[in-house]
Amino acid sequence: MSSASLRLHPDFTIAPVNRRTFGSFVEHMGRCVYTGIYEPDHPTADADGFREDVLALTRELGVSVVRYPGGNFVSGYRWEDGIGPVTQRPVRRDLAWHGLETNEVGIDEFARWAAKADVEIMYALNLGTRGVQEALDVHEYLNHPEGTHFAELRRSNGAKEPHGIRMFCLGNEMDGPWQTGHKTAHEYGRLAAEVARALRSAEPDLELVACGSSSSAMPTFGAWEATVLELAYEQVDAISAHAYYEEHDGDLGSFLASAVDMDHFVDSVVATADSVGARLKSRKRINISFDEWNVWYLSRFENAERPTDWAVAQPVIEDHYNAADAVVVGNLLISLLRHSDRVTAACQAQLVNVIAPIMTEPGGRAWRQTIFHPFALTSRLARGNVLRVEPQSPTYDTQRFGDVPVLDAVATHDPQSGGVTVFAVNRDVTGPVDLTVALSDLGSLAVLEAWTVGGDDPYARNTADDPDRVRPEAMGSATVAGDTLTASLPPVSWCAIRLGPATPPTQTR
Ligand code: AHR
Repeated sequence: MSSASLRLHPDFTIAPVNRRTFGSFVEHMGRCVYTGIYEPDHPTADADGFREDVLALTRELGVSVVRYPGGNFVSGYRWEDGIGPVTQRPVRRDLAWHGLETNEVGIDEFARWAAKADVEIMYALNLGTRGVQEALDVHEYLNHPEGTHFAELRRSNGAKEPHGIRMFCLGNEMDGPWQTGHKTAHEYGRLAAEVARALRSAEPDLELVACGSSSSAMPTFGAWEATVLELAYEQVDAISAHAYYEEHDGDLGSFLASAVDMDHFVDSVVATADSVGARLKSRKRINISFDEWNVWYLSRFENAERPTDWAVAQPVIEDHYNAADAVVVGNLLISLLRHSDRVTAACQAQLVNVIAPIMTEPGGRAWRQTIFHPFALTSRLARGNVLRVEPQSPTYDTQRFGDVPVLDAVATHDPQSGGVTVFAVNRDVTGPVDLTVALSDLGSLAVLEAWTVGGDDPYARNTADDPDRVRPEAMGSATVAGDTLTASLPPVSWCAIRLGPATPPTQTR
């Protein structure tokens, strides 16, 4: 039996929990939009054609912000195709995913969906085939109140109020040779700076995200960020990071340590951004928008045959997740929370059907994939400030990352309510880990709820017929005695333990 420990202190805060850490992503890709969020013929469709079953699951997931409309799709997208009378909208080829885009859903429809789902929109601009003028035009359509060409066009299309979008991504993965309109770091950095400057002339306080590398494995990783930021440092607020993880060749131990890679990724981008800031003698700090992250069995996609016909809403990268994937997703959220001082937004990619926590059948059922659960619990339970914890843990050897701690953890503390939540993973495939948490600096606490996700079979999945095969199980082992929390984490598991002030016993005479 291995054991691990940590100590919590309310003064050791990293930063407040950013609600934007719990972002998601809706791309016009595969079945994310069509038969995902939107399916007018579905039995649960509302008056706008949105699936109410998916809306309910989105709310339950606890999503705060949704990046839209792509992804690779956005780099060839003409936003004007998606406005005005639906019957007059053109059908276009989508070069990114080799599909047909009917444009039935455009920004006005998506904004209606976002209001129903109670999420903020993070809008991605096309800087692949387009530039400064089109960015200004779509910004005017989205955010200008009234009295100008595009603002009046929006109003005549039924959206009287501006959509009020605060966050704009300046393109998508422009370092990737697969990207329509791919650019060198210098070409992109100049364009990003010019677009940002123009947008700020219209609305100075927008939050603008420059494209970082599409993965830390890109040959230009680091150099790309440095060049782009040298050219656009004072114009942007954040730089993006994208990372996808998968189990390679049955190496579960390395896969379970994916968060080690995410930690390193974030630390590398922060170091690069800060070194540019130092060279520029700037006091400004560039944050990270980790606006694509997830488990994605990318190697299966790379080895699979690509669609050759042009079709609408054909299934693309519909990964079916297992319990180990859920543990990794829970751990990646721990990593993102741990970096809350610099990672100010993050989007799990994507929301529905396409590498997603929510799956649907066209015309049929919707269900929660395994990875739904750690996201929903972390979004619900992470409150207040993120606490710095320094776990003492045994280590294990991994092929990809060397020696890695068996236990990883983070905690949040809400100074208002006195509530504390501990999020932890046991990456050990061979046995449980006994966790001891010293709480003496937090007053008298009791366990209010404790959940674990993982369970007996790391390869168990949820399906439409068996949607609850993997779900959060109550964690009976979590108890507080005096000022110490103890819990036993099963092998390959993630857990969330919420504590609150222990109510003093009622005095009776
Ligand atoms: O999320 C799927 C794809 O992954 C996105 O379109 C792209 O930005 C990334 O490479």
